[in-house]
Amino acid sequence: MADVIDGKQVAASVIDEVKAAASALETETALKTGLAVVIVGDDPASHTYVAAKSRMAKECGFNSIQHTLPAETTQEELASLVASLNADPKVNGILVQLPLPKHLNSDAIIQSILPEKDVDGLHVVNAGKLATGDLATGLISCTPAGAMLFVRRTHGEDLSGLNAVVIGRSNLFGKPMAQLLLNANATVTIAHSRTKDLPSVARNADILVAAVGRPEMVRADWVKPGATVIDVGINRIDAPERGEGKSRLVGDVAFAECAEVASVITPVPGGVGPMTIAMLMANTVIAAYRAAGKVAPKF
Ligand code: GUN
Repeated sequence: MADVIDGKQVAASVIDEVKAAASALETETALKTGLAVVIVGDDPASHTYVAAKSRMAKECGFNSIQHTLPAETTQEELASLVASLNADPKVNGILVQLPLPKHLNSDAIIQSILPEKDVDGLHVVNAGKLATGDLATGLISCTPAGAMLFVRRTHGEDLSGLNAVVIGRSNLFGKPMAQLLLNANATVTIAHSRTKDLPSVARNADILVAAVGRPEMVRADWVKPGATVIDVGINRIDAPERGEGKSRLVGDVAFAECAEVASVITPVPGGVGPMTIAMLMANTVIAAYRAAGKVAPKF
């Protein structure tokens, strides 16, 4: 049976480091780290996520500001809020929760955030810095940064000689994850829905990362014995065994059977999920240090 990574515990250790860093910055410079979270509309899941982000920012000792805008907000109104947050020196990080209501152009909004305040790591400047290996001045998207922290804690900083396979090629996760693995010297394959014989490609992986959004797609015979398996999927499926109308969360990996083959595996829930918020806090305190002209902590 594989070692199961406890994402909550790793996230809690990152949060402790963030709190210490924010408090040291405040002591040294009297500057409080500030995070602004913007949500537009009434999507209940998004409200839950945003509330958790705002709450955690407070817990980290940040100046936590939430802007809750109605679903009818116009592109101009949202753009003008982002412009005012860009100009506000008390705000170090800006997060606009996605998805935005359909009438809004999210890419234009995300790209209008100052790259140095883009704590989601979604701005093309931050994506470009990651792609060129400039990890020192850019901000890295939170979920890949969290998944990479698990990889580093398992294999160390240097992945020379290891094969990594990322299943999924999204801008939000697959591409930045592959860049992080490559920066750490892994030999990286990005696989996706058009890949020929996905199971045999996956079986080549010492580090297998699944981010496809298909419940339990990765089976035991896709996993190389002894591999590290990182599951980034969060899928809600029916669970009639729990009672009528009940559901449960599963990842992209068939956990129980893959845990018999892998040496390290992340669960869903409780794996990569808790890391996303922790890395958002880490990015925010990094942005605050840089804004203050100080050397930022590493996570
Ligand atoms: N919606 C779901 N995940 C995310 C995320 O990481 N960032 C933003 N901005 N919105 C999201």
